[in-house]
Amino acid sequence: MTSVLFDGIGLLYTGDPEAEELTDAALVAQDGLVAWIGPAGEAPDADQRVDAGGRCVIPGFVDSHAHLVFAGDRSAEFAARMSGVPYSAGGIRTTVAATRGAGAAELTARTAVLVAEMAAQGTTTVEIKSGYGLTVEDERRALRVAADFTAETTYLGAHVVPPDTDPDDYVRLVTGPMLDACAPHARWIDVFCERGAFDGDQTREILSAGIAAGLGARVHAGQLGEGPGVAVACELGAASADHCTHLSAADVEALASSGVVATLLPGAEFSTRSPYPDARRLLGAGVTVALATDCNPGSSFTSSMPFCIALAVREMRMTPLEAVRAATYGGARALRRDDVGVLRPGARADLVMLDASSYIHLAYRPGVPLVRQVWQAGQRIF
Ligand code: NIG
Ligand code: FE
Repeated sequence: MTSVLFDGIGLLYTGDPEAEELTDAALVAQDGLVAWIGPAGEAPDADQRVDAGGRCVIPGFVDSHAHLVFAGDRSAEFAARMSGVPYSAGGIRTTVAATRGAGAAELTARTAVLVAEMAAQGTTTVEIKSGYGLTVEDERRALRVAADFTAETTYLGAHVVPPDTDPDDYVRLVTGPMLDACAPHARWIDVFCERGAFDGDQTREILSAGIAAGLGARVHAGQLGEGPGVAVACELGAASADHCTHLSAADVEALASSGVVATLLPGAEFSTRSPYPDARRLLGAGVTVALATDCNPGSSFTSSMPFCIALAVREMRMTPLEAVRAATYGGARALRRDDVGVLRPGARADLVMLDASSYIHLAYRPGVPLVRQVWQAGQRIF
């Protein structure tokens, strides 16, 4: 295979806690992995040379929470919300109906568009959930579509109880035949633990069944109000509790002591006009924080990690460094990956060259397309 030398990097944010920021740096990628990092001008020879011209290079973003397999459009719901209609979990059913009615080829094509949008904005690893099928066949189909794009596939049969269905019957389906059909296509299991979706006991039962089937656990917790989601996530050793907008003191303590990552999704607060999660409280308690888009047609239809970084800095009082760390290293922790979200020898050569001298510009210049080049496993994808 080939090697690529990235030289003249004005600022290299590595995401590696050992050497997080280097100035005037160079990086060599070989066979898809980072092979060497050091001072500009001192790198070993490579087959191809890319001059960063003093620009900033960062790891590819790790978007650890996205719902990309769906059909339909909920822009009218968004417009109504901006005129005062509150967000509710019930909107999920609109997308379920549209998704069931779409063909597999359409779902694949739509997912490809969103994955390409993400890549153009610097995302090189994305987690993709099912959750808009809610039948055995429709959930399996969604996961097969997702698996064409990522290894980080998540079974979210427990997104909401479908219409005209008894909740107990549905939990039996989700933990039985649907799990059997979906587990071979999934790495993770997720539950929307919320009033109007699944309660704490149901969440524990569903996640436990998934864990017994070999899946890792993650939870939608505390999005619309305080609830038992974070406690159950910590009790079961989930990789991540996501949203974390409404947390009790005990939740914060449990996240800190269990090491469960708190994944914050500020696109959802933006698009539902809700108060943002208290990132400072989590960081102050020593919780590992990740940032992700939650890209979905209802609560957060953005595919942009730079937008989420800008929101985190402006609205959640994260520093630019904390935000870029949460969007790279934090996302990787939320997926229990140590080969992505970081640039160090041996890691996957996933990197983003910004049209800027520093990652600070991601928040300083919101809405500006600063992503100049994106490389994934040593190949240029944008
Ligand atoms: O993470 N909260 C549950 N699921 C999505 C919203 C899904 C929808 O509204 O379609 C979320 O915000
Ligand atoms: Fe979500």
